[in-house]
Amino acid sequence: MRMVDLIEKKRDGGELDEQEIRWMIRGYVDGEIPDYQMSAMLMAIYFQGMTKKETSVMTDAVTHSGDVVDLSSIRGVKVDKHSTGGVGDKTTLAIAPIVAACGVKVAKMSGRGLGHTGGTVDKMESIPGMRTDLNEEEFFSVVNRTGISVIGQSGNLTPADKKLYALRDVTATVNSIPLIAVSIMGKKLAAGNDAILLDVTTGSGAFMKTMEEAVALAKEMTAIGESAGKRTVALITDMDQPLGNTIGNILEVQEAVEILRGGGPKDLQEVCLALAADMLFLAGQGDMQTCRDKVHEVIRDGRALEKLVEMVEAQGGDSSYIRDTTKFPKAPYETDVLADRDGYIVHMNAQECGVASSMLGAGRETKESVIDMTAGIVLLKKTGDEVKKGDVLARLYTSQKERLEGASKRYQQAIEIGENRPEHRKEILARVEKEEVVYF
Ligand code: URA
Repeated sequence: MRMVDLIEKKRDGGELDEQEIRWMIRGYVDGEIPDYQMSAMLMAIYFQGMTKKETSVMTDAVTHSGDVVDLSSIRGVKVDKHSTGGVGDKTTLAIAPIVAACGVKVAKMSGRGLGHTGGTVDKMESIPGMRTDLNEEEFFSVVNRTGISVIGQSGNLTPADKKLYALRDVTATVNSIPLIAVSIMGKKLAAGNDAILLDVTTGSGAFMKTMEEAVALAKEMTAIGESAGKRTVALITDMDQPLGNTIGNILEVQEAVEILRGGGPKDLQEVCLALAADMLFLAGQGDMQTCRDKVHEVIRDGRALEKLVEMVEAQGGDSSYIRDTTKFPKAPYETDVLADRDGYIVHMNAQECGVASSMLGAGRETKESVIDMTAGIVLLKKTGDEVKKGDVLARLYTSQKERLEGASKRYQQAIEIGENRPEHRKEILARVEKEEVVYF
């Protein structure tokens, strides 16, 4: 087989067969197919798309490109959750303990920040001592003991995705529905859970900017999951503005703890409730209303917060920071971004808000960058809020004073103030299961 023939076939709109796809993925992981040929293939896929058959075979090839986790020694239905990426998305930190407090085991591998989006693993590492690099034995032992563990992706899980993702990042081929579906589902199927809940974000802070694209991605991913024998459901959630009132690692941990205490911003509460209830539903814990009631109950009686404390301790972290989140260090420098006119916030470019937070030090500029855990943004006004000239829109934090100016300009440009209050966008826009889309 020759890679150049496969590129030509795809470029001209042909369908790659199973043997060709498996040969290509194996060859790329082994280093026999060079980056320049794989780049050409990715661009051909970007423009030509992939058939359902191609997507499902490529996902399977990615899943089996490295280790596959076997969670069968952990009793009960294990449900995974994965977001397609967002800004201010700290839902895993709240949902995982909620679900575990309801008696459903959570054995989850999460990612780090990517581009303008944040990652759960980085956020967890802002808790002093917290380990996210448990080996498989430690991971299983923590889940069996406490019912919950969230760690980073283990060493040899889906090496094909690691290589492909890095290549897509620098060849402008991230934003392709089949390639995102292969990347996410390849990882999820290798992580060994029984059911998968996908949080497909849409809007200015998401990879899928429109509802139509989000629905298409949700259908594609749920079909892949189902054909692999895993019950797979997607909730389409709004990411047209940052989720909650904070962006940045420590700030987001503090906000997730507020949710577990029964507080926190309403949009974040809504998304956490919907996702946690659906995870319980997929784990067979009753109908949706029963599952929602269970979520409320474990928050109200403090069991969800205790579960987070338990997980932090089991993974070597100092849980006193969870019990008293004011213990976290605060950034030495801050500045306010002010409204430059009267009106309503009509739109927030969430991606740009994420970039501003990254510029403060909350994200990585290069793979080697060290994250400033104290850096980030507290959003004091969000879409739909009325503002008067001079009102504080947001407070920006950093450990490096020289970062403030550029980041505050970027943030200011991300906020649009207009004369009329915009219509409220729902937090949960749709639910997709087995090709069926229910709009809310
Ligand atoms: N998240 C992933 O893991 N992969 C993608 O391609 C996009 C978002």
